[in-house]
Amino acid sequence: MTQDEMKKAAAIKALDFVQKDSIVGVGTGSTVNHFIDALATMKHDIEGAVSSSEESSKRLRAHGIEVFDLNNVDAIDVYVDGADEITKHMHMIKGGGAALTREKIVAAVAKTFVCICDETKQVSVLGNFPLPVEVIPMARSYVARELVKLGGDPSYRQGVVTDNGNVILDVYNLDIIDPITLERDINALVGVVTNGLFAARGANILVLGTPNGAKVIK
Ligand code: A5P
Repeated sequence: MTQDEMKKAAAIKALDFVQKDSIVGVGTGSTVNHFIDALATMKHDIEGAVSSSEESSKRLRAHGIEVFDLNNVDAIDVYVDGADEITKHMHMIKGGGAALTREKIVAAVAKTFVCICDETKQVSVLGNFPLPVEVIPMARSYVARELVKLGGDPSYRQGVVTDNGNVILDVYNLDIIDPITLERDINALVGVVTNGLFAARGANILVLGTPNGAKVIK
């Protein structure tokens, strides 16, 4: 199986967690694109979706799936999203696609976070993938200097503006031994909107694409 076939296998398996007549939380990325395409096969069984990016909203609507404003939704049972890295503790790095802030908001509302990814995303320690940090544009240099003090090596993601009008710093060379503390410390820097550590609120279920098909880990 190719990496993309493993992503697709995980995405299709995640349909098992979608409840009838519910509003589904939908993340962003290439694995989620497979999930959206699979969700379309049961679009008459769900009420619609809440999306974490303009890109996913566009794909959902193209399939005829209604996209709700999160402010008009009281509760979300299940949020399905990918990850750039995930540990056995279900802590993740996300934001490779720059959608981390909206992803974190929808994840915060959801009762259950179902992470879908291929097995190459499993790691023992987070940080080989550079940690994305969404920053208010005028704070970019200040936040970069503060991230250096935290031991990182930030790099401005050129040419990328988030759906919220902000910029991304990708932080290299972080040894993320305590992801919950680091998530909190980076979020406490003035000018940071949020960072791509999903540790305080990690995944509840991992659907992992492997060469032998999708495996569910709880
Ligand atoms: C989007 O900002 C990210 O958090 C994605 O969920 C993550 O980058 C995984 O993307 P792929 O499914 O494309 O690997």
